[in-house]
Amino acid sequence: MDMYSETDFEKIDLSQKPPREEPERQYYYIARCREWVREFKQKNGRPPCFFTQTFGCQMNARDSEKLEGILRQAGFEEAGGENADFVLYNTCTVRENANQRVYGRLGYLNALKKKNPHMLIALCGCMMQEPQVVEKIRKSYGFVDIVFGTHNIFKLAELISRRVEEQHMVVDIWKDTKQIVEELPAERKFPFKSGVNIMFGCNNFCSYCIVPYVRGRERSRKPEDIIAEIQRLTEDGVVEVMLLGQNVNSYGKNLEGSVTFAQLLRRVEEIQGLKRIRFMTSHPKDLSEELIQVMKESKKICHHLHLPVQSGSSRILKAMNRRYTKEQYLELVGRIREAVPDISLTTDIIVGFPGETEEDFQETMDVVEKVRFDSAFTFIYSRRSGTPAASMEDQVEESVVKDRFDRLLRRVQEISTDVCARDLHTTQDVLVESLNDHLEGYVTGRLGNNTVVHLPGDASLVGTIVPVYLEESKGFYYMGTAGQEP
Ligand code: 5AD
Ligand code: SF4
Repeated sequence: MDMYSETDFEKIDLSQKPPREEPERQYYYIARCREWVREFKQKNGRPPCFFTQTFGCQMNARDSEKLEGILRQAGFEEAGGENADFVLYNTCTVRENANQRVYGRLGYLNALKKKNPHMLIALCGCMMQEPQVVEKIRKSYGFVDIVFGTHNIFKLAELISRRVEEQHMVVDIWKDTKQIVEELPAERKFPFKSGVNIMFGCNNFCSYCIVPYVRGRERSRKPEDIIAEIQRLTEDGVVEVMLLGQNVNSYGKNLEGSVTFAQLLRRVEEIQGLKRIRFMTSHPKDLSEELIQVMKESKKICHHLHLPVQSGSSRILKAMNRRYTKEQYLELVGRIREAVPDISLTTDIIVGFPGETEEDFQETMDVVEKVRFDSAFTFIYSRRSGTPAASMEDQVEESVVKDRFDRLLRRVQEISTDVCARDLHTTQDVLVESLNDHLEGYVTGRLGNNTVVHLPGDASLVGTIVPVYLEESKGFYYMGTAGQEP
């Protein structure tokens, strides 16, 4: 048993001062919120409800599960939409125009709040780590109740308590932190799979990227804490975990008694009941031979690597501060494929980085031809203020970028259609994830390499791994039937 599941929130003595230590301090504030929820129920004849909207990456998605875990423990119930008593936006700021969307949504929330004056509006996530954003919210969006950042999400209950007592906007942003608070509640979107943070932050400072500025320096969780969390999850029915970090290959570097990512994976592999291990994201410069070996030997690690290349031009890669060349990337892919021949590779590519010429772009196309990615997330370069690349000369003209982007996307999709069909007419294990949204009597799941499969079945299959014969390839997904080849 762990500290969190042993805590009886009803027995916490609120006449005492809040403890200084974490997570006890947050348990105390969760208990306080529960009191407030009780009063709310008495007044309104129902519990307060919450709505969270998450923008951006898997890190944010996992953070939102933690935030929702705290809200639920505090007694809030989930609402169907934004017309809720507590609305939380977990924001992203990777691309310059993402901020505009949030400001737009806030206008709409303000209108809702006028009709429901006790509504609380909270903003958190990467965008809030930018001082000019917080300034703007203080000045022009005075109806917002709580603003916090990426480093202190564990404090949500404390911030709500403060807002209720102080009756004005509560702003709490940390520039960076070394602290990792364990043993707090977390929700799960799926009962049978879960993300697990293994590290936070990023030290790479790719010249286009805002993440190191808003997520702070790299911090790894202790292996014991990670293993204990996954053990708890498996006891609770989880069969697949996604180990999360901006750069999982540098896991462990800041920990005493050095442990590598590959060693961590070996320990996760031993957890009983766990069937599939995924991880993301891998930085090519830090992907070790040891990791390739572990993937080769493992029975549980999925044969899938997300390995962002960003550009195929060594000159542009240097300007991006990626610290590998085109040749090194291709060589790495070669070594991985040799060890794990059926590996599925996916990537991120940015088009139109400052100074990118048609020749540079052709180098990117060449990598796409040579590697033949299962899929690629393609991005138009966004001139993200606050990053070194934003002040570089030779920003590429929009129409040129658009044209390159279209050519790249077309080719990526053609290759993807071919590559994804490679398991056609074979039987593969599928983790069934949900009932099919469109086809009655069908369920939807994923292969180890992450490709989607639809097959006839009912709710009893959800959360189980079944062998499926892949009958028909539809480009990005398969149609199959449970059981062996007919
Ligand atoms: N412009 C375009 N794409 C970006 N990414 C990060 N920063 C930018 C930017 N300024 C992309 C990278 C990264 C992915 C998560 O987002 O490809 O791998
Ligand atoms: Fe951004 Fe580069 Fe860190 Fe990824 S590795 S989060 S692209 S700085």
